[in-house]
Amino acid sequence: MKDNFMNPRVNKNEESSLDTTLRPLTLDEYVGQNELKNNLRIYIGAAKKRNETLDHMLLYGPPGLGKTTLAYVVSHEMEAKIRLVNGPSIEKPGDLAAILSTLGPGDILFIDEIHRIPRVVEEVLYPAMEDFIINIVTGRDEDAKTFSLALPPFTLIGATTKPGDLSSPLRDRFGIVSRLDYYSIEELTQIVLRTSRVFATPIDLDAAKTIAERSRSTPRIANRIYRRVRDFANYHDYDHIDLNICEESLKQMKIDPIGLDETDVKYLMTLMKRFNGGPVGLETLASAIGEEIRNLEEVYEPYLLKLGFINKTSRGRMATEKAYKHFKVDLFNF
Ligand SMILES: Nc1ncnc2c1ncn2[C@@H]1O[C@H](COP(=O)(O)OP(=O)(O)O)[C@@H](O)[C@H]1O
Ligand SMILES: [Mg+2]
Repeated sequence: MKDNFMNPRVNKNEESSLDTTLRPLTLDEYVGQNELKNNLRIYIGAAKKRNETLDHMLLYGPPGLGKTTLAYVVSHEMEAKIRLVNGPSIEKPGDLAAILSTLGPGDILFIDEIHRIPRVVEEVLYPAMEDFIINIVTGRDEDAKTFSLALPPFTLIGATTKPGDLSSPLRDRFGIVSRLDYYSIEELTQIVLRTSRVFATPIDLDAAKTIAERSRSTPRIANRIYRRVRDFANYHDYDHIDLNICEESLKQMKIDPIGLDETDVKYLMTLMKRFNGGPVGLETLASAIGEEIRNLEEVYEPYLLKLGFINKTSRGRMATEKAYKHFKVDLFNF
């Protein structure tokens, strides 16, 4: 079982440590998701006035859209301590009970990938969320005894890429359920400009916009591309990033003008050429291109669906005419 009290400024691996320095701390700094932010301002303001905890909140949407960031923002705005755990690391009811029993009044418990916690663990969550108690069973069979342990009021924030995988009793216990939307080019441009200030390598507006256009509508990808472009600029002794060096590095990174990378291209080309545009099952497709099913389903497909390049049908995945046009593959030549 892995969990830790997160210091928002300290972390281990490169991507996540950069994530933490890049993360906005306040709702005002958090770009986009305006409707959600406006609602949150009200819920947070009201909870603080009443001196209560915020209602439990479920955030869902594709990876990299700012779910974890928003959880930190909420903890900052609520002036509450946040504890972060990963769904898959909570294996047994006892693991969760141990985490819950260390929460202080008003703390926020953030469970990432909450759809991956086992059902037996979920059952510990229900009374914890509803009545702030946990029921602990000791002994077995006829010797089994149940104790109830009172918890201080806390807020659970769950994040998931697959809300459909949550059981409905769990979903129903969240008072606030919000989907994060993909970002517009303007919003992503703002995010890249902000990142360039944090990293102290300025970027021209047109170059920032170019990165935004190729970021699959996703802040994490915009930040990642910015960092790679910055490497190219620094290596070639540029003191700032202009459109020229930006386009040159994007070409080297094999990112196409609408942000498709090598895996997207492989996915679509295999679907169009080898499987004649489908329908083909995801499993078959995944093994044909040597990618993990989960990765395709949760990372790649949401954006291909958003672009309208694929359809998910009951018989499998299908390429659309739009995909054929983008790759200039002849629809009738196979
Ligand atoms: N609304 C936003 N404004 C500014 N930066 C953002 C925003 N959303 C995400 N980011 C940045 O994108 C990266 C990924 O966000 P994260 O919260 O980890 O996404 P998720 O948890 O949904 O996978 C982080 O570096 C974060 O700073
Ligand atoms: Mg996250």
